[in-house]
This record gives sequence, structure tokens and C-alpha cells, in this order.
Amino acid sequence: MIRTARADDIPEMQRIEVEAGRMFLTLDMGLVAGDEPLSTAELLDYQRDGRAWVVADAADRPIAYAIALFADRVAHLEQVSVHPACAGRRLGADLVERVAGWAREQGSPALTLTTFADVPWNAPYYERLGFRRLADDEITPELRAIRAEEAAHGLDRWPRLAMRREL
Ligand SMILES: CC(C)(COP(=O)(O)OP(=O)(O)OC[C@H]1O[C@@H](n2cnc3c(N)ncnc32)[C@H](O)[C@@H]1OP(=O)(O)O)[C@@H](O)C(=O)NCCC(=O)NCCS
Repeated sequence: MIRTARADDIPEMQRIEVEAGRMFLTLDMGLVAGDEPLSTAELLDYQRDGRAWVVADAADRPIAYAIALFADRVAHLEQVSVHPACAGRRLGADLVERVAGWAREQGSPALTLTTFADVPWNAPYYERLGFRRLADDEITPELRAIRAEEAAHGLDRWPRLAMRREL
């Protein structure tokens, strides 16, 4: 079941992010795998604003989550993470659809994201979910600022890009 996140989901969301990050160890991307999860304060901002969703199991415990923001008045999928024990069950795809539905309700023309170009479960996966790779001259200022922050964080050691799905 997908529902909006509650404040008490946050520790579990952080745990999911750490566990999901371990997938990057298989590609020798230790910096990504070892990255700290978003802070409680950051996640609370998304949660309080109704821009955080979780997939909850039968015990109502989060097993996957997504958060979104606006960049240049276009909805932006900031993060989607699925606990690896629950991967491959289309939970990620369902969360993307939920965020796309929210974005439509908000009047956004599209949904954007930034991701790794060559990681099989990143850009190629999002292409299968209807996103296309943006050329450099299509990247709007706030999206560019997000990319710059990622680069400052060291993530550009591997090719990254911005993607967009029209709604
Ligand atoms: C990416 C992620 C959200 C997908 O969630 P999920 O619920 O497993 O997704 P789905 O079941 O909808 O689909 C999994 C897809 O990943 C692909 N995939 C998963 N592991 C893979 C691997 N090791 N190699 C290649 N492809 C892989 C599958 O082929 C599948 O794609 P397909 O169904 O279109 O063929 C999840 O794997 C995750 O949390 N990964 C780590 C964090 C991450 O990379 N987040 C995105 C940051 S931009």
C-alpha cells in the first residue's frame, strides 16, 4: 500500500536508503553506497509538506519511499529507494506513478529527476518508465543547481544526467 509518509516513518526511511545504497557496492561505487541518508530535518520538510510517500507492508512498516520537490515549477523526483529485500516487485515503478499523479494534481507539466547514466537500475530503468535523457541546453536553472550540488558531493565521478517525463 502506498500512503503519504508520517513523521514516525522517518527512521525507517533512512534505514531503507542505507540498505538500498548497498546495491552500488556491486558496481564499485563505494562513495554512493556509503553516503549518509537524508537527515531527519530534511525528510521532515518533505513529510510535513505532503511530498513524501512510503510503500508500507502488512504491518504498516515502510519498505520503500519517494520524495519530491519543485525545480523551476516542475515536479522533481528527488529520491526513490526500495529496500533490497523487496526489490524487483515494481514498488519503485508504483512509487514513480504515485509521484507522477501528485505532480499532475499540482499542475506540473512534467516530472524530472537526476540519476546515474550507466547504472542499470538508474537511467536505463527510468527510460523504461517513460523518462528521456535531457541534453545540457534543456537543463533549467534550478535543475542545474541540483546537478551542481551533486557534483560538489563527488557524485560526478560517474556520469550523471537529468531526465524528464512529460505528464
Ligand atoms: C531503483 C529502485 C528504486 C527500483 O525499485 P524496484 O522496486 O526494485 O523497481 P522495479 O521492481 O519497478 O524494477 C526494478 C528494475 O531494476 C532493474 N534492476 C534491478 N537490479 C538490477 C541489476 N542489478 N542490474 C540490472 N538491472 C537491475 C530491473 O531490471 C527492473 O527493471 P525492469 O522491470 O524495467 O526490467 C531500487 O532498485 C533502489 O532503491 N535502488 C537503489 C537506490 C537507487 O538507485 N535509487 C534511485 C536513485 S536515482
